[in-house]
Amino acid sequence: MPCNAPVATITSRTNAVGPAIVAKHMLPRLTLSGRNVFAVLSARVGSIGDNRSGGWHSYRASKAALNMFVRNLAIETAHRSPQTICVGLHPGTVDTELSRPFQRSVPENRLFTPMAAASRLLMVIDGLTPSDTGNVVAWDGNTVVP
Ligand SMILES: NC(=O)c1ccc[n+]([C@@H]2O[C@H](COP(=O)([O-])OP(=O)(O)OC[C@H]3O[C@@H](n4cnc5c(N)ncnc54)[C@H](OP(=O)(O)O)[C@@H]3O)[C@@H](O)[C@H]2O)c1
Repeated sequence: MPCNAPVATITSRTNAVGPAIVAKHMLPRLTLSGRNVFAVLSARVGSIGDNRSGGWHSYRASKAALNMFVRNLAIETAHRSPQTICVGLHPGTVDTELSRPFQRSVPENRLFTPMAAASRLLMVIDGLTPSDTGNVVAWDGNTVVP
């Protein structure tokens, strides 16, 4: 199994621990009433149920950890602020350095510019309701299988 420990550590710190630290400092500052959204960039590959191809050990594991963290946060936050929504977002495949090595297998109309991806995600965020809290929601508004 190709697993590079230093890479796995950095990836986990960036993708899972980083957002957790942001949440730790931000969420206590939110108003308890009214609609709040805490959204982090996750990825469909962090889904355990949707994993049909394997590979990408560090990246998948770090996003799965992030998704679990978002679910925990959602449960704990709902007790004191029922209108606060905590979600992971899957932006689709976006034309950045990260996706460049994998873009050949992506149909042209499914490779989004960063601007298009950000616009879609803002629309998704606008449409979220408290029933979405704890989930990962994709660019098309659909919930990703946990
Ligand atoms: N691109 C996709 O298709 C895609 C798909 C699903 C999810 N996502 C998610 O979307 C988010 C943004 O990805 P992207 O495509 O924009 O990737 P990107 O172009 O490679 O940018 C990654 C960003 O993360 C920063 N970064 C990387 N390693 C870091 C570290 N150790 N500490 C602090 N910052 C670090 C980079 O900083 P520097 O600019 O300083 O290097 C850069 O700003 C990620 O969470 C990614 O998992 C992307």
